[in-house]
Amino acid sequence: MPLVNMNAILPKAQKEGYAIGAFNCNNMEIIQAIIAAATIEKSPVIIQASQGAIKYAGIDYITALTKLAAEKAPVPVVLHLDHGTSFEQAVSCIVTGFSSVMIDGSKHPLPENIELTNRVLAVARCANVSVEGELGKIGGTEDDISVSEKEALYTDPDEAVEYVTSTGVDAFAIAIGTAHGQYKGEPKLDFDRLAEIRKRVTTPIVLHGSSGVPDDAIRQAVELGVCKINIDTNIREAFMGGVVSVLEKNPKEIDPRKVLGPAREAMTEIVREKIRLFGSAGKA
Ligand code: G3H
Ligand code: 13P
Ligand code: ZN
Repeated sequence: MPLVNMNAILPKAQKEGYAIGAFNCNNMEIIQAIIAAATIEKSPVIIQASQGAIKYAGIDYITALTKLAAEKAPVPVVLHLDHGTSFEQAVSCIVTGFSSVMIDGSKHPLPENIELTNRVLAVARCANVSVEGELGKIGGTEDDISVSEKEALYTDPDEAVEYVTSTGVDAFAIAIGTAHGQYKGEPKLDFDRLAEIRKRVTTPIVLHGSSGVPDDAIRQAVELGVCKINIDTNIREAFMGGVVSVLEKNPKEIDPRKVLGPAREAMTEIVREKIRLFGSAGKA
């Protein structure tokens, strides 16, 4: 079926208490793995591309591959810009055919973040494209900062209310202790903060940096109202794990299909596991 936007799938997930996986892609094999997993699990799915992925693969390739995959798939598929940081980047994705964009103005002070988000929303609304915004800073696991410094970057519930009511975004990314990349220790999520934000904000909530978060913490986050969950690092690990295991067995292998085929299967498996964990299996 044609691409859908997030409003076709997130409000239902929110109402019924499950989350939709948003999986990052960089090339054809990753897109195929995500679609295969969603198809087997009969789940709606979000395929997302970062600015880095767009630079690497080309916006036209990402769009064409995902649109084709969606049209052939028996489940709803969203093509979403992940962490777009400029108005121009968001508009270029809207024009090229993305069905959803994230405008990440989290590095700006609140008024500038709201203003940037609203400029993107004005264009997105004309094109039936959904918009995700972010408040609070989701760092990287390499950021060398203390716990109290980290907590100072978490989403403030009062500001959350101001941000969502001043914009009307379709999905809202919050910082509650997750980070992008591989964790050194076990991440500790601020569930009280999540519950407080959920109580005061009706917008579907997004959890970033979700690779490496223990399954129980993911289940609790979903119970507390998270309904979009971003996964990139676990897919990268599965991809490279597949590549390395082939090359360990046969270091002289020169057929890319024999290297990337098993990597694609490994990625399909991890995406299937996440879909079941998030509770969206059978919801397409
Ligand atoms: O949020 C970060 C995603 O994992 C994308 O990472 O900018 O290296 O493509 P990237
Ligand atoms: P991870 O790479 O930590 O899974 O984070 C993904 C993400 O948040 C993409 O926006
Ligand atoms: Zn992210």
